[in-house]
Amino acid sequence: MDFLFINRAGFNGMIRFNKKGGHNVPFCKKPNRFAKAYVTKIVNQVDNIQKIINNSDYTFINQSFQDTIKMADKEDIIYCDPPYIDRYVDYYNGWNKDDENTLNKLLSHFEGKFILSTWHSNKYRENEYLKTIWKNFNLLTKEHFYHLGGSENNRNAMLEALILNYKSL
Ligand SMILES: C[S@@+](CC[C@H](N)C(=O)[O-])C[C@H]1O[C@@H](n2cnc3c(N)ncnc32)[C@H](O)[C@@H]1O
Repeated sequence: MDFLFINRAGFNGMIRFNKKGGHNVPFCKKPNRFAKAYVTKIVNQVDNIQKIINNSDYTFINQSFQDTIKMADKEDIIYCDPPYIDRYVDYYNGWNKDDENTLNKLLSHFEGKFILSTWHSNKYRENEYLKTIWKNFNLLTKEHFYHLGGSENNRNAMLEALILNYKSL
């Protein structure tokens, strides 16, 4: 819940810590960011999410995608939201070609439904994997403008992709 609070409270939804572990997202040009009414609004939203989680049967498991996919059977729907391949997003340990190929192999053999989110293209480049290892699946795209990012140069239009192994409505 603390995590959700800082996600909702930070400038542009950013969560960032310095090397000493201190939270260092700036107020920017909004000194009222932590005005009482705004904090109350965020606390109420987070409280709402907590109630939903407490009243439902969710299990959160921290493990590799290989282990998670192996736990699913054909009645399940798998939604995968891995780091975007070739986007150089600095997640801990990264996400490389081998990970993308392994994910492709496991999902290709999965007998239930799966949905995978990835990127399609931006004005500079295309996701080459859509034309190779993912080409036999269904593809949906939607344009999205990234508002999240420390500098304005990092906030660009992107065509997002969903890859599915079934026909959506
Ligand atoms: C795009 S984020 C997912 C965000 C998530 N859907 C959400 O709404 O918060 C990609 C996630 O994949 C995780 N990840 C990276 N490598 C992984 C692996 N080998 N197995 C499982 N998860 C991995 C990263 O830690 C990161 O949290």
